[in-house]
Amino acid sequence: MKSLVAIFATVGSVAAVVFALTTYVGQPVEAATRLAANKAQLERGRYIVHQVGLCIDCHSPRDQKGEFLAGKHLTGSPIPFTPTVPMPWMPAAPKIAGLPDGYTASDMIHFLMTGERPNGRPGVLPPMPPYRMDRRDAEAVTAYLQTVAPTEK
Ligand code: HEC
Repeated sequence: MKSLVAIFATVGSVAAVVFALTTYVGQPVEAATRLAANKAQLERGRYIVHQVGLCIDCHSPRDQKGEFLAGKHLTGSPIPFTPTVPMPWMPAAPKIAGLPDGYTASDMIHFLMTGERPNGRPGVLPPMPPYRMDRRDAEAVTAYLQTVAPTEK
């Protein structure tokens, strides 16, 4: 009986050491990889929002001189131009900082890939461009927008 207890105790402590080692060795590496992946994704999202899709241009309010208002990036804005011919048109772009109201992250990814809004709402009107991003870009834009506080950046 005593030896059985001893065996269990030994097996137990070996398991504990193995567990502790894998946790200790495994975690920092995984966490660092995750952080790096996350950073690259956020940088790509920022690049698309600021330099490719130019979401920033329509969705951010400006002052009288046309300069972006500090701390209000992507918080929604009237569109400062109009079409020269009659066409369907939406004269304001809503807040997308921190994601638009009523959108989950997966709603946003789906919208950027398909143009379909959540809850069966009709699609967006011009001048919102009909983006059809691939999943990687849609996820990067969504992740980035989630980091933008609704009132700053
Ligand atoms: C040329 C101007 C313009 C650009 C560039 C633009 N948008 Fe828009 N966006 C609009 C307008 C205007 C609307 C409102 C359309 C409507 O409601 O029919 C809109 C609507 C949206 C909506 C729908 C929000 C809701 O409440 O359903 C999302 C999401 C969105 N834009 C995201 C983006 C993203 C992300 C980018 C950049 C990748 C971007 N937009 C670039 C003008 C623009």
